[in-house]
Amino acid sequence: MPAPFPALNEVAIRAQLSAPSADALKKLSLLDEVGSTNAWLLQLPRDEFHAHAVIADQQTAGRGRRGRGWQSPAGCNIYLSLGWIFNAAVRDLACLSLVAGVAVVRALESQGISGAGLKWPNDILADGRKLAGILLESRPSGGGRSAVVMGIGINVAMPPDDAAAQTIDQPWTCVTALPGANPDDGLRDRLAGALLERLLDALPEFEAGGFAPFDPDWKRLDVLSSQPVCVTTAEGEILGRAAGLDAQGNLLVFEQLPSGDQQAHCFNSGEVSVRPAHRDSRK
Ligand code: BTN
Repeated sequence: MPAPFPALNEVAIRAQLSAPSADALKKLSLLDEVGSTNAWLLQLPRDEFHAHAVIADQQTAGRGRRGRGWQSPAGCNIYLSLGWIFNAAVRDLACLSLVAGVAVVRALESQGISGAGLKWPNDILADGRKLAGILLESRPSGGGRSAVVMGIGINVAMPPDDAAAQTIDQPWTCVTALPGANPDDGLRDRLAGALLERLLDALPEFEAGGFAPFDPDWKRLDVLSSQPVCVTTAEGEILGRAAGLDAQGNLLVFEQLPSGDQQAHCFNSGEVSVRPAHRDSRK
């Protein structure tokens, strides 16, 4: 089956950038094939790293969170990474992955595509199925700075019968299944450009104002909000109700104790995983 999209088109991608974003983007590299766009950026010399975006048509060793892979067949999806040097320690950038998630959904919405939501910390879902994922990786950078790669994979038009797609071990979906998606030849380029635009717009705002400017969008898009959830920690599972985020981007969960009391928990994204739970999960 032929790939849904023609080769990545730099002119079409750049056409989505505003003047400030075009100015902020120092370099855009388009690759036919790479192991991982994150790994490719991480090995660049320091002077080529900041504000350098790379987009690949295909990844042969795409990386996902928690040591998993990211299936990355040719010609049908977006595999994009952006390198950025922050004037802050990595521990102070905990909300960055949340900001990246908001940027992904803003990019979709800017193209008239609706139906995507965010599941803490940084899954992009539609109808409970994985639409896109975010992997942040960093490397040391002197003087209290952090060199961070923001890697984003978006399933745009992955054929369900694709061999790689058939190995994905969780429910997934594609942009072309969402309301408002116009599945023409230019969809992938437009979306990749819109994603770059939203990231380049968001990063200075995040550097200046932290997570606060993104909080209203996060609340609007939070698919776990007020939902029963099951949180898996190193110590075991906790059933409770999700109650949004604290100022550091940690997930708040209220556990219903057998006594009838509620116990508040605050979870860090590096330590736990969370999934929707059903009322009868205690059985
Ligand atoms: C996840 O597991 O949800 C995160 C997936 C992140 C995939 C993207 S694709 C572009 C970038 N390069 C990689 O190797 N991974 C990220």
